[in-house]
Amino acid sequence: MDMKKIIDDIIELPILPEVATTLIKLIEDPDSSANDLNDVLISDAALSAKLLKLVNSPFYGMKEPVTSLKKGIVILGFRTIRSMAISTSVVDLFDFIEFDGFSQEEFWVHSLGVATASSLITEYLDIQNDTAFVCGLLHDIGKLIMNQYAQNEFKEILFYAKDSNLCFYDAEVKLGVDMNHAEIGEFLAKKWNLPVSVQTVIADHHKEPEDTGEPVLVSAIQLANHVCEQLKIGTGGNYGPIVPNHKQCVKFCKGVNIKDIIETLKTSVEKIREMTNV
Ligand SMILES: [Fe+2]
Ligand SMILES: [Fe+2]
Repeated sequence: MDMKKIIDDIIELPILPEVATTLIKLIEDPDSSANDLNDVLISDAALSAKLLKLVNSPFYGMKEPVTSLKKGIVILGFRTIRSMAISTSVVDLFDFIEFDGFSQEEFWVHSLGVATASSLITEYLDIQNDTAFVCGLLHDIGKLIMNQYAQNEFKEILFYAKDSNLCFYDAEVKLGVDMNHAEIGEFLAKKWNLPVSVQTVIADHHKEPEDTGEPVLVSAIQLANHVCEQLKIGTGGNYGPIVPNHKQCVKFCKGVNIKDIIETLKTSVEKIREMTNV
């Protein structure tokens, strides 16, 4: 299946807004603080409005409406705001075309679920920055490029995966696409100048962890993907197992209490859904 040519011929790829680029840079820096985040938020009216919408959503159960940005920041907390800010600025970039088995809301719930789970996993591994969150959020971004620019091919892969009970990636392999969603995602990540570690994880998220330059992050994403599929936290167009080498994932994520992560995730689903709606 000829995908490379379609991708090469795209004249205008979505452009990542400045605010998201800044936030992703902040995430890589373990010393970044709530103050850095506030500075970014204050400069962006649309994001500030979304923050207020999120804090006033039923999930947070406020007795009175919160109208002050400062108060909203305190209630939501650093991590939640950072996650919301990055994810909403990416969500808005794509013209999502819905198909049977591929809905915008479920796709983003899946992506945010994997982001949240990956972030929890690397916390156990004492990784100081939260690159895992960005990797989780964007791991399947290549599917959105396909969905927007190569609809027929995308549909064919999706329906093949469904009919054959395969994950999307295995369906791509079977159909012999010359550029799969991981490679397309990497292409976009390069265009967006995302950190090299993020580019690598997007490119390699279906490879065996030992075969990539980022084995720990790739393992974290694969475990997170697996857990989210099991818990049915959104869907990413998969109809079969995703993890290529479970043993390796466990090896690279030694000491991670998956049971704890599952419990935390279960309580985060509602919050994740609210976040995709702002
Ligand atoms: Fe994927
Ligand atoms: Fe996924």
